[in-house]
Amino acid sequence: MAGVARIDPWGFDAVSEYGELMEQFGISPINELVKSAGLRHFLFTRGIIFGHRDFDSWLGALRRGEKVAVLTGVMPTGKPHLATLVLFEELRLLQEMGAHVKFAVADAEAYSVRREERKEAIENGLELVAHAIAWGIDPSRAEFYFQTAMDDNYYRLIQMFSRKVTMAELEAIYGDLSPSKIVSVLTQAADILHLQLPSYGGYRYVLVPVGIDQDPHLRLARDLAERFRGELGLERPASIYHKLMRGLDGGGKMSKSRPDSAIFVDDDEEVAARKVMNAFTGGRATAEEQRKLGGEPHKCPVYDLYAFLLVRDDKALASIYEECTTGKILCGECKRRAAELLVKMLREHKERYRKVIDSGMHLKAIRTPSF
Ligand code: TRP
Ligand code: SF4
Repeated sequence: MAGVARIDPWGFDAVSEYGELMEQFGISPINELVKSAGLRHFLFTRGIIFGHRDFDSWLGALRRGEKVAVLTGVMPTGKPHLATLVLFEELRLLQEMGAHVKFAVADAEAYSVRREERKEAIENGLELVAHAIAWGIDPSRAEFYFQTAMDDNYYRLIQMFSRKVTMAELEAIYGDLSPSKIVSVLTQAADILHLQLPSYGGYRYVLVPVGIDQDPHLRLARDLAERFRGELGLERPASIYHKLMRGLDGGGKMSKSRPDSAIFVDDDEEVAARKVMNAFTGGRATAEEQRKLGGEPHKCPVYDLYAFLLVRDDKALASIYEECTTGKILCGECKRRAAELLVKMLREHKERYRKVIDSGMHLKAIRTPSF
């Protein structure tokens, strides 16, 4: 199918041409809505969350006091890194706004698509939930689940979905698909849509916050919702899309597959600081040139650390931007400051994580699969 752009949700590379993709797939820019709805959180004001589908109607329902939910998921492969914390921040914010949050530990997908060992996936999944709680997601107003520990109504959905989708449609969305991927995408559609069933709470307004790499799954889930409107009363889910943090090595998005691109939540302080100090930057070739021309924060992964995680106040971020672009600060000093903030953030997070683990709170928040 030449000429048709496709996003590979299992690919490792950054999707950089956001604008073009948005138009092609019918994702709306979010800036006007952020202003008119008065959304103040930095993930919105900085355009880190940059696009949406039907977020306006979801927000409307929230503000009318209707039941609204948020659903997203992560594969439990390896240790979480900073980009996972950004997702947790998004969930924490949406929970604070009043949404019911549900989080899928995508262990079925990790098993079949990433070939993760079963035992590892379960251990990683439990840790992931502990990190989410440590980051500030209130478990008393959230649900966490392993895909493989779900019950019959969820699995029944997967079977039903298989009846109303053709191979040609799946291939148009995903390209070539192995049987394991077909099962995984239908499972993810069940993740996205199951909250609408009466047995899971009957949430008619479900918002899915994801990176744009997950958009193919949303297109499929929206098509399926349409086809099951009569039989199951499903509505199309809404979605918001966040940018992906750049990897510190300058080679695409922060990714587990390139350990030097990412800072993991359990990296030692020295290791984390060293990764920042060794990072690729938007700086110039020489100090002299940088003083004259200024740096290029829009190309700089260190700037991303500030913008996505380390500096919450927009004015403080604007002054870093200004110091960089006017050449008042050089990269060495800028990295030192970032490393210091990062080490402090990780230290505080680890302390909260310890407390969650010691109290066993995460184990109460999720049912561990039986095999
Ligand atoms: N496919 C997602 C990933 O690669 C994980 C996931 C599973 C998910 N189910 C989901 C994401 C539902 C959003 C909504 O990490
Ligand atoms: Fe990046 Fe800071 Fe250097 Fe600017 S000064 S390019 S933000 S490291």
